[in-house]
Amino acid sequence: MTGSNDDLLGAIRLHGTIPAHIAIIMDGNGRWAQARSLPRPAGHQAGMAAVREIVEGGLQAGVDVLTLFAFSQENWQRPPAEIDALMRLLEEYIAKEAAQLRDQGVAVRFLGDLERLSPSAQRAVDSLVATTAGGANLALNLCISYGARAELARAARLIAEEVKAGRLVPQDVDEACVAQRLYTAEWPDPDLLIRTSGEYRLSNFLLWQLAYAEFYVTPVLWPDFTRVHLFQAIQDYQQRDRRFGRVSL
Ligand code: FPP
Repeated sequence: MTGSNDDLLGAIRLHGTIPAHIAIIMDGNGRWAQARSLPRPAGHQAGMAAVREIVEGGLQAGVDVLTLFAFSQENWQRPPAEIDALMRLLEEYIAKEAAQLRDQGVAVRFLGDLERLSPSAQRAVDSLVATTAGGANLALNLCISYGARAELARAARLIAEEVKAGRLVPQDVDEACVAQRLYTAEWPDPDLLIRTSGEYRLSNFLLWQLAYAEFYVTPVLWPDFTRVHLFQAIQDYQQRDRRFGRVSL
């Protein structure tokens, strides 16, 4: 890192309010590739390198949980060649990064409808979760085949089944009951949502969990997003007045 990057990291750490949980919509891989007359998968490949960079930045800043939107349920409707490239990239990411993630103390989990993945991708996913289990420095959640409405429908289905089985009564169904049946049950809600590439949309990402998150949208395309951009987003977050619907004291 350059001196000024160190200064920025020092400044945000000194300020003291590092967001415990950061969620990121990694957008703009296709436009990054298009701007260089490259095929779209080249943008995803460059996006994979940015994931490594941001995991390192998160570790440096002292973030506890990073939740990254890597592949949405809607992405299954992309051309088969792009889906294949993304799935190959997922396996490549796991093969390349597993040892380093384990050594860095990063515990990786995958959130989403993983049954739609190929058997070999499912095996790779399971092995990365097992290899990195117990990592205590950062929880890295990769949302794959993920859609927030489907996640909420799944939670409703799980609750209905428990009511039917007599383990729950309808009066037990409150916010905590729903939250416990989301993929994110074990982590606090994100404090900060970052979206790259300048789009102001949630795109069916963590609709429940982002209720009180601060939003930060940057025009930077995901493959160009570095830890310095992450630190800038954190610095911006530190200027916010989070009221959670109350008044400032
Ligand atoms: C959005 O860009 C990005 C995706 C659909 C895929 C995200 C994937 C990665 C960052 C790389 C893989 C990561 C892992 C962890 C294996 P877009 O294609 O929608 O871009 P566009 O809006 O410019 O077309």
